Amino acid sequence: MEMNTYTVPDITVRKNQGLTHAADFTLPQPWDRYTAEDHQTWATLYQRQSEMLPGRACDEFLQGLAALEVDAHQVPDFDRLNEKLLAATGWRIVAVPGLIPDDVFFEHLANRRFPVTWWLREPHQLDYLQEPDVFHDLFGHVPLLINPVFADYLQAYGKGGMKAKDLGYLPLLARLYWYTVEFGLINTPQGMRIYGAGIVSSKSESVYCLESDSPNRVGFDLQRIMRTRYRIDTFQKTYFVIDSFQQLFDATAPDFTPIYHAVEQLGLLGAGEIDAHDRVFHVGNRVGWAETADV
Ligand SMILES: [Fe+2]
Repeated sequence: MEMNTYTVPDITVRKNQGLTHAADFTLPQPWDRYTAEDHQTWATLYQRQSEMLPGRACDEFLQGLAALEVDAHQVPDFDRLNEKLLAATGWRIVAVPGLIPDDVFFEHLANRRFPVTWWLREPHQLDYLQEPDVFHDLFGHVPLLINPVFADYLQAYGKGGMKAKDLGYLPLLARLYWYTVEFGLINTPQGMRIYGAGIVSSKSESVYCLESDSPNRVGFDLQRIMRTRYRIDTFQKTYFVIDSFQQLFDATAPDFTPIYHAVEQLGLLGAGEIDAHDRVFHVGNRVGWAETADV
């Protein structure tokens, strides 16, 4: 998701040249635009991550990947994937040109539609690109959508987003999305695991978030997260750890309006700050932390 002011990146413009989208930014998946090189890039990324993730990603993610039969060898066919996803939780994916306006994004989530950027990064961008592409959006986000509790959480988030926009509290909700849906960790009886899409789709961060001594790992707390700035250009300085998806859903079920007011009174925390009330799993040693500003 993306904040208000935003310039469409060159790669998004280039990939979408000649395509048109509907008012809700969806378009049919432009299958004939994928090249043999795109499918090869998908296969490379898929194989790399599926080697990294056992023992690191949570079981729910790995089960989702298997149950949806996400294609390992080529960019998945969205319609085929939707047959399984719809049957499981009533969610579907819709193809979009890239990042879309907040209100359109929230409206899709509120209606159990997950917008997926249709195009794929290029071979020189295997490790990192700033914009979400089909690998991040589909491989990273979609497997958890067959988990009923997470599926409900994301829909509730969309509904909350539509409301937060009207109230002017979008940055608070954006932090919640960032530190859960994108960069969340979960505590399990087998140890700490990843569920955030930004991590499961990244080779280096899927190791760093769990195994490096540099970042903080702190227990999930809704208000704490809504106060915490974040990194968009480096690994996170702090990861937040949930105990279960139910905890995530329960914490976000109440009306957020009084919570927004409380958070406003408390003020912001830097991306790497530890708060006195934190349930700390690990205090980062700060090695390699960027000095540039947090978002
Ligand atoms: Fe994402």
